[in-house]
Amino acid sequence: MQDSAFKVLEILERADKPISGETISNELKVTRSAVWKHINELRSMGYDISSSQKEGYCLNKTSGKLLPYEVQKKLKTQFIGKKMRYLENTPSTIWVGKQVCSEGDVEKLHGLVIIAEEQTGGIGRMGRAWVSPSGGIWITIVLKPRIPIDHIFMVTMAGSVAVARAIRKEFDLGALIKWPNDIFIGNRKVAGLLLELSAEADSIHHCLLGIGIDVNVPINQFSPALQKDITSISTEVGHEVDRAAFLARILKEFENRYLLIESGEYDAIIREWKSLSYTLEHRVHITTMKNSFDGEAIDIDEFGALIIRKDNGKIERVIAGDCSHQ
Ligand code: BTN
Repeated sequence: MQDSAFKVLEILERADKPISGETISNELKVTRSAVWKHINELRSMGYDISSSQKEGYCLNKTSGKLLPYEVQKKLKTQFIGKKMRYLENTPSTIWVGKQVCSEGDVEKLHGLVIIAEEQTGGIGRMGRAWVSPSGGIWITIVLKPRIPIDHIFMVTMAGSVAVARAIRKEFDLGALIKWPNDIFIGNRKVAGLLLELSAEADSIHHCLLGIGIDVNVPINQFSPALQKDITSISTEVGHEVDRAAFLARILKEFENRYLLIESGEYDAIIREWKSLSYTLEHRVHITTMKNSFDGEAIDIDEFGALIIRKDNGKIERVIAGDCSHQ
């Protein structure tokens, strides 16, 4: 991203009236033609900037894109999202995450957030496709967790709690978590999380936390089959929302919980997950790789496994699978 263009943008954002190219060029110590070039770069990123010979440049409307500049302006984290990679269009941010981790030093990538405006090959749980049109939040967070590998599920739990909390705080909507890591508003899914782990023996090389949220996405963009089961934030609140502020909030909520995990405070995450659970105390239908059965979801353990009291009274621990509410 062009740093100097954003310096021009900062000046336009501060100005309460149109500002001349000469004033900007003097302040940044660059030529007037460089200012013109940066104005055009900003326009190509979606910023609505008018110009008049007499008065100069004026920022009329900010870019509607989820640009790192816009998110970082509002970001209050220590390390998550301090580095960002932005793509207009990519098959999947998970795929980009795998690429960057295979090429770079993972220690230095810890906390990197990869953002895509649109994904053409979004990946969902259990090998499903994830529809990702523009208007959503499609991100992958690169992490090098310093935790025992058998507690890796905590990272997804922290992510789910962060997304549910951020939805509640930003939009006052009653978001809940459906096991293992879907976010629901009412009985419709609004977001999903996916963790990709790269490990050797019992040592974690890195993990990629993919988060997909239907934010400013009209529901009619999805297939009729999906439409009855999903919702979006704009559908729920009745207007488009500020994605940059929402993402900054999610990253802060996530970082707070991630730091708890790294200091071994797993109980705090589990407690919060339970308090936001849509699944616990519900009758559920479970499908695993091996079988499927009905029962009541009674608890979740410290490894993220769902504890089910089956209809025959037997207790079953489900570590991976699909869960539907009855
Ligand atoms: C699910 O199936 O519920 C999980 C969906 C995860 C989707 C996100 S969008 C950002 C990241 N990139 C992907 O391709 N998938 C994840």
